[in-house]
Parts: sequence; C-alpha cells; structure tokens
Amino acid sequence: MSVLEGKHILLGVTGSIAAYKAADIASKLTQAGAEVDVVLTEHARRFITEVTFRAITRRPVLTDLFDEPEERQIAHIHLAKRADVLLIAPATANVLAKLAVGIADDLLTTLALATQAKMVIAPAMNTAMWQHPATQHNVKVLEGRGATFVYPAEGMLACGDVGAGKLADTSTILATVEAVLNPPLRGVRLLVTAGPTEEPIDAVRHISNPSSGKMGYAIAEEAARQGARVTLVTGPTLLEPPAGVRVIRVRTAQEMLNACLQVYDEVDVVIATAAVSDYRPAEVWQGKRKKGEEEWTIRLVPNPDILHTLGERKGKHVLVGFAAETQELLHNAQAKLREKNLDMIVANDVSQEGSGFRSDTNRVTFLWADGRQESLPLMTKREVAHRLLDAVRELVLPSG
Ligand SMILES: Cc1cc2nc3c(=O)[nH]c(=O)nc-3n(C[C@H](O)[C@H](O)[C@H](O)COP(=O)(O)O)c2cc1C
Repeated sequence: MSVLEGKHILLGVTGSIAAYKAADIASKLTQAGAEVDVVLTEHARRFITEVTFRAITRRPVLTDLFDEPEERQIAHIHLAKRADVLLIAPATANVLAKLAVGIADDLLTTLALATQAKMVIAPAMNTAMWQHPATQHNVKVLEGRGATFVYPAEGMLACGDVGAGKLADTSTILATVEAVLNPPLRGVRLLVTAGPTEEPIDAVRHISNPSSGKMGYAIAEEAARQGARVTLVTGPTLLEPPAGVRVIRVRTAQEMLNACLQVYDEVDVVIATAAVSDYRPAEVWQGKRKKGEEEWTIRLVPNPDILHTLGERKGKHVLVGFAAETQELLHNAQAKLREKNLDMIVANDVSQEGSGFRSDTNRVTFLWADGRQESLPLMTKREVAHRLLDAVRELVLPSG
C-alpha cells in the first residue's frame, strides 16, 4: 500500500508555463489513493483550467479565497487543517517570494500561512529567475523554516534557454511527498561532527584550518529533514545551525572528543566530517604573548584521534569518516577506513578545484569496508549529503 493512500494533499498550482504538468501530478497522486484538493492561483488559470483537475481528482477545484463550497466552514481554514502535505508544483518565483515574507493575498498563499502541514515546493522558471539572488534567498528562507524543495532540473526550457529551471519529474516530486510523509531516516539517531577545531597557543592565537563546516551542516540538515534525530557537534563556524538539530559547540579536539563520547551511547550512526587538528601546542601561554625580537618555538603534541577512539568502541554503531587528502587519495582513504574500523569513508581531494574546504561543491569517492567504491561527479555539498545518507540508510536498515 502506498504511503499516499488516504492522505490529504493540497496541490497548489501557480502561473508557470509548466502548470500543465500539474495535471499529471494530480493524476498520479489520485491513483496512489490520495485525496487531492487542487488550488489554482489566478495566473495559473491562464495556463490550465479547473475542468482538467476536477475531472482528474473528482473533487472541487479551488481558486477564490472567498468561495465557500460548504457554508458552515471557512474553506481555507478547513482545508489548511485537514491537509497532510501542501505541495506547490509548479511554484513560480512570485509565489516563493510571497511565501518567504508571509504575504497572504490569495487562497494559496493564505492556506500556506494557515496550515501546519509539511510543505513541498517544486519550482519551475526561467534559469535567470531561478538563479536570481532574490529567488535563491527565498528558497533558503523557506528551507530554514522546514519546507522541502524538489529542485528544478536542467534542460531546454520553454523560453528556449538551456539551464536549471525545468520542473522536476513527476516521479521525483511524488517520491519527495512520500518521503515527507514517511521520513526514510525516522528513528535513526545520528551524530555529525563538523567544522574545524581550534587549538589555543595563547589567549588570542590558535592553530586551526580553513574548514567551513558546510559539508557537516548540509548532512545534519538533510538528515533531520529525512526524520533522523541529529546531534551536531561543531567546531567554530560562521554557519547557522540547521532547524531541528541538537547543537553542541566545542572549540578544541579534546572538547570535540568529550562531546562525542558523551552522546555516543545515544546514537546509532556517526558521520565525522570535522577537520580535527592533529596536533595542539604542548603548553598554552597564559594571556597574550607580547611581540618580541626573539624566536618563538611552539612544541606540538598529538591530539586524540576521535574516529579511532570511536572505532575502538564500535559496538553496533555505523561509523562514517571523511578523508581530506592532497595525495594518494584512495590509498590513504582505504588505510584510514581499516585503521579506524569504519563502515564507510568519503574520500575528498581537497587540492582539486571545486572540492574541499570552503567551496559549496565537492567531488568525492565513497569507499565501503566490504571493498566497494563509487566515484561521484562534482556536485553540491547538499547533493553529496543526499547521496551519503542514501548509503547510510542501506548500512543502518539493510532490508529497507
Ligand atoms: C507565458 C508565461 C510563462 C511564465 N512562466 C513562468 C514560470 O515558469 N515560472 C515563473 O516563476 N513565472 C512564470 N511566469 C510569470 C508568472 O506568471 C508571474 O510572475 C505571475 O505573477 C505569477 O503569479 P502566481 O505566482 O500568483 O501564480 C510566466 C508568465 C508567462 C506570461
């Protein structure tokens, strides 16, 4: 039985050239057993009519905020309350902007404010509109509030341009709605480490590295979205912690190890992305050391190896590490996988363009303890997070 069976889906359709594809979405949802209430914006009606959706869903189609099909109920509040998911497909740049600031000037946007249902948004628009900083900002705002986006695909657009902006496939949109209704990582308890560590030299100086924390934060955010209970142990970063994630802030490698050990028994999976300082100054100077003419030698001692420590007490944990290397990437990653008793490692050549520390993209290879390996093309850290969590799901729930 489909997870969609008996669910109430509000399908908002907005004024995009892709509005006709919403008929297929409504049809597939209905066939899967969902009760689909379609809401068209005024501009959507210029592209497709109510008649199509009424025939497909066998239900009234709503367009006007002031329509009251049932006299005793205020339509938008009633619909908002009973919805399990509000799916907006296709979503225009205009509706994204309205949702981001909370404008409620028609039935769809009023419903979006009134409902507590999970929101799934599938944008479709011209590439320049999609890439516009205003649109990208609105997407981030809505994601920050918990909306799930089905990102537009690349391809030939109706306007003749080629690029990102094409409405995602019906099957991808349906799979996302299903995942929102039945989160794939529900019940999984996950610890993610992220960011750099800082090892103090004196009161104002430290040893660190350029890790931004982006990879770990993307994993934590995506895992929480997929229903996992996520604890993020993070070194100092400038990033906003993802919604719905428990955050433990640390500074040094020793603090990070302590935090990990503290929660280790409460988690099933550890994904260690943090760039932990391998060494720390043997002595920390009290106060700020004054500038002088003489040389200053700082003696470094090794830090505890967090993943190695966790690997020694592996038990039933699934352990995933990251190997940031500049040479002999796969060889070194394989060695690390074995030495630290990991189930999987993500090898990441940080010397490659578009890969590594501060970038938004990454080119990685997954290596498993059973010898399998898979090289992924250059992709955003969010996409890497997605792929990694698919792999983690197989490790945690092999039959699922
Ligand atoms: C032929 C045509 C195609 C359009 N396609 C899109 C589109 O794919 N995506 C988009 O964001 N806006 C598109 N627009 C612009 C929107 O229709 C316009 O911004 C409108 O105000 C959206 O209203 P709504 O969001 O309330 O439906 C298109 C306009 C026209 C005339």
